[in-house]
Amino acid sequence: QSMDSLKPELWTCSSNTCTKISIVNSKSNKVVTFNPRFTYPIFGESEQIFGYQDLEIILAFESKTFKPLINVKYSKKLDEDSLDGSKSPLDMLLEFFPSKDDLVIKDELQWTKSFESDSLDLPTLGELIDENGNISVYKCNIKDVKLLHQRIQIFTLFFIEGASYIDENDTNWDVYFIINNETKDILGYTTCYRFWKYGGHEEFDNLTTDYPIRSKISQFLIFPPYQNKGYGSILYTSLMNYWLTLANVKEITVEDPNEDFDYLRDVNDLKLLLKLGIQDQIEFDKKTASNSIISQKWIDKIKPTLKLESRQLIRLLEMLLLYKNA
Ligand code: ACO
Repeated sequence: QSMDSLKPELWTCSSNTCTKISIVNSKSNKVVTFNPRFTYPIFGESEQIFGYQDLEIILAFESKTFKPLINVKYSKKLDEDSLDGSKSPLDMLLEFFPSKDDLVIKDELQWTKSFESDSLDLPTLGELIDENGNISVYKCNIKDVKLLHQRIQIFTLFFIEGASYIDENDTNWDVYFIINNETKDILGYTTCYRFWKYGGHEEFDNLTTDYPIRSKISQFLIFPPYQNKGYGSILYTSLMNYWLTLANVKEITVEDPNEDFDYLRDVNDLKLLLKLGIQDQIEFDKKTASNSIISQKWIDKIKPTLKLESRQLIRLLEMLLLYKNA
């Protein structure tokens, strides 16, 4: 071997660049390919893989069932001594798929054939909570969609910073999916947790209905090919409207929202408040440039109907004041 061929940079690649994710519609044969935003949970903090040339880590998912195909290709690999026992990219990836029997490795024909026998049909696994033209939102308990969730959950690592897998054996988790009725493509999903909301012993002793709960949006994701088309807003709004109708849901919270999610949430919460006419209940005192009418008492009164956390509600009221005064 020449000295040049031993240069470390020749054998190092960015795991974000060499990982290629595809979503394939098996009926129309439409394929969309994109890179992950993050791969550090899988390939390590530096997001680099050493030891290969022309490395390609290919992950393909069928758009209705998310049946996965994995293929790792490279033109050259360093000898085992130089790799010093480090795990292969394939093995590293496999650790994040709990159901090894369900995966197809390399064999594209077998993968394509598997669609014919894959009986996973999302609508039959959950409850329809919203239908909006061509788009439906289904609520599924984790126990009923374990396999589908096992196929899909790696997307949270790829696209949500700091994400980790949820406990799939805890049935307080629900998964809400948004699907296109025509193509049957799964467009995105969110994992949500039901906490029991203890409101003191008096409330508990007098309970006549279901336990009061706090709903938490944990991971929220629209798959890259379908982003910026309004689907995130539809999924979020369906969820809010659904929870607003459930008497036992007392509060709606979000776990570690990022900037993009905050934005989506603010825009859609504001639309909701405007629809409910909350802006007509607040007045802005122009003389003192402060709000004269928003009292804690009034906030306490509207809070249970809106089910928003105090911090979010106050942020939104401030935005409404600005909006009214504009
Ligand atoms: N056509 C074109 N654009 C539209 C349409 C439409 N019909 N409808 C809405 N839009 C615009 C919106 O106005 C908005 O644009 P703006 O930013 O210029 O105002 C933009 O599209 C985004 O709105 P949506 O399309 O509703 O949002 P999207 O479906 O892309 O979902 C999300 C947003 C969830 C952040 C998505 O991009 C995503 O999954 N990102 C990666 C993962 C992530 O960051 N998730 C949140 C982590 S935090 C957490 O999980 C709690």
